[in-house]
Amino acid sequence: MRMKVSEALSGIRVLDLFGEARIATQPKVPVPVYGERIVDGLRIWDPHRSKLAALLTKSLLAGGLAGLVGVLNLSPGSSVLYLGAATGTTASHVSDLVPDGLVYAVELSPRAIRDLLGLCQARDNIVPIFEDAFHPERYASFLEPVDLVYQDVAQRNQAEIANLNVARYLKPGGTLVLMIKARSVDVTADPKEVAKAEVEGLEGVDLISVTDLRPYHQDHWAVVARKSSAVLKQ
Ligand SMILES: C[S@@+](CC[C@H](N)C(=O)[O-])C[C@H]1O[C@@H](n2cnc3c(N)ncnc32)[C@H](O)[C@@H]1O
Repeated sequence: MRMKVSEALSGIRVLDLFGEARIATQPKVPVPVYGERIVDGLRIWDPHRSKLAALLTKSLLAGGLAGLVGVLNLSPGSSVLYLGAATGTTASHVSDLVPDGLVYAVELSPRAIRDLLGLCQARDNIVPIFEDAFHPERYASFLEPVDLVYQDVAQRNQAEIANLNVARYLKPGGTLVLMIKARSVDVTADPKEVAKAEVEGLEGVDLISVTDLRPYHQDHWAVVARKSSAVLKQ
């Protein structure tokens, strides 16, 4: 296998795989979760399958990966609230980045959570929470304040869900990564305008970047923001 590992940032490896720039991590147990390639113990992220992989890959290609990783500010012991974990494709990547921390993975679909539970048996730092992210008070007993809120719920009220969870659980100075799926908000409107309105609907955070995830994901935007208030709502 012709593979060159050229850089490592906070657990994120940058690879040149047959001339293509790729993001990878080195998990405790190098087993594929969704069919991704494992080479020399490294999981090679698929930007077509994971929006976080797409965001990191686009930042890498634009020369901004170090800046983005700095903003995410994850360390091995960080805690993450992951809203819309589905079967755990991207949650497993986040789990690689915080091997000594915790990923609180909230998911509403019984079918998805069943697969997620299987993933949690192989990864002891993912806590599955079968709940509705629109009601963050319902999982208060499971959670501590977190360093990062990652949201990918493909719902109509994406900004509202983010606001509720950021206010309640994100530490002051912590980071929000919000994946906006414009067509889940309104299929008839201009996707760009929908995304803009969702971004404008965010509260209590300072906007850092908005990234169009094409060519990996059509009509999806990745929003990165930092919690501005010094007060955690109880
Ligand atoms: C696009 S998929 C998430 C994909 C996943 N983030 C990944 O990259 O591996 C959106 C998920 O959000 C879940 N979801 C939608 N609304 C939700 C809510 N209110 N609370 C929790 N999960 C929700 C859906 O069931 C679905 O599994």
